[in-house]
Amino acid sequence: MKSCALIAVLLALSLGHCQGAEVAEPVAVEGRSVSSEIVELLEVFRDLLETGYGPMPKLAPAEIKHQPFQFSTGEFSANGEINDFVLEGLNGFEVIIMNVDLIRSRVDFELNFGSINFTTLYQADVGSGYRMKREGGAYMALEDFNLKGRISYSLGVISKQMKVKSILVYPSVGNVASEIENLSQYRIFNRKLNEVVEEFITLTVNENTDFVANWLNEMVTPLCNDLIGDRSLSDLIAIITGAKK
Ligand SMILES: *[C@@H]1O[C@H](CO)[C@@H](O)[C@H](O)[C@H]1NC(C)=O
Ligand SMILES: *[C@@H]1O[C@H](CO)[C@@H](O)[C@H](O)[C@H]1NC(C)=O
Repeated sequence: MKSCALIAVLLALSLGHCQGAEVAEPVAVEGRSVSSEIVELLEVFRDLLETGYGPMPKLAPAEIKHQPFQFSTGEFSANGEINDFVLEGLNGFEVIIMNVDLIRSRVDFELNFGSINFTTLYQADVGSGYRMKREGGAYMALEDFNLKGRISYSLGVISKQMKVKSILVYPSVGNVASEIENLSQYRIFNRKLNEVVEEFITLTVNENTDFVANWLNEMVTPLCNDLIGDRSLSDLIAIITGAKK
């Protein structure tokens, strides 16, 4: 969520930056040059994921040594802990589409991630009615994960102040891999249970796309405007260029 907001701010920045300048090029050409500026900023963002920056920890890979968890839905509950959790692949994106349309004040984009995956050790006490102890290793991956979306913005007529109107992001996933050990002590049944997990995640990502898009939009749009509103454009540009090595 945070990284989405950061991407949006980067986009907002380079748009605002461009609109502020007096550019004599035709608008379509100008749109293309802003598009490539954004692709460059995403490269900066990729570096920041790999190194961390200020209060943002390193996220590629992201590591958690130890984390207790607890959840319950109706009858079913689980509590336990994860250890040596490592998330990889947030930096492994390819920009498929980056198209800035200055006339319609919108940005269409599509990013593709080869594999976002985690490995971890887990211990859990799960069940509904009766309790079962489970522990082992777990690996899970979203492969060919795609984020396609559109950011619409408006610019103040006089102030040129930029406001994000909406951010629509549609995720989809090509393949989900789940290898959680010891869900069942029987190997065949364990594979079946992992297939249930794979199918559940695939459907959740691929079939609720409007729901996810609306939910993200409601969460992220105000956040972006807050972030943009808090600082002046030149402050933000200084932060970005300061981060650029
Ligand atoms: C996990 O993701 C990383 C980064 O995308 C990738 O290099 C690695 O091959 C993936 N692991 C597996 C087992 O596919
Ligand atoms: C968990 O599964 C692994 C691999 O299938 C097995 O080697 C290990 O003994 C199991 N651990 C427990 C506590 O059942």
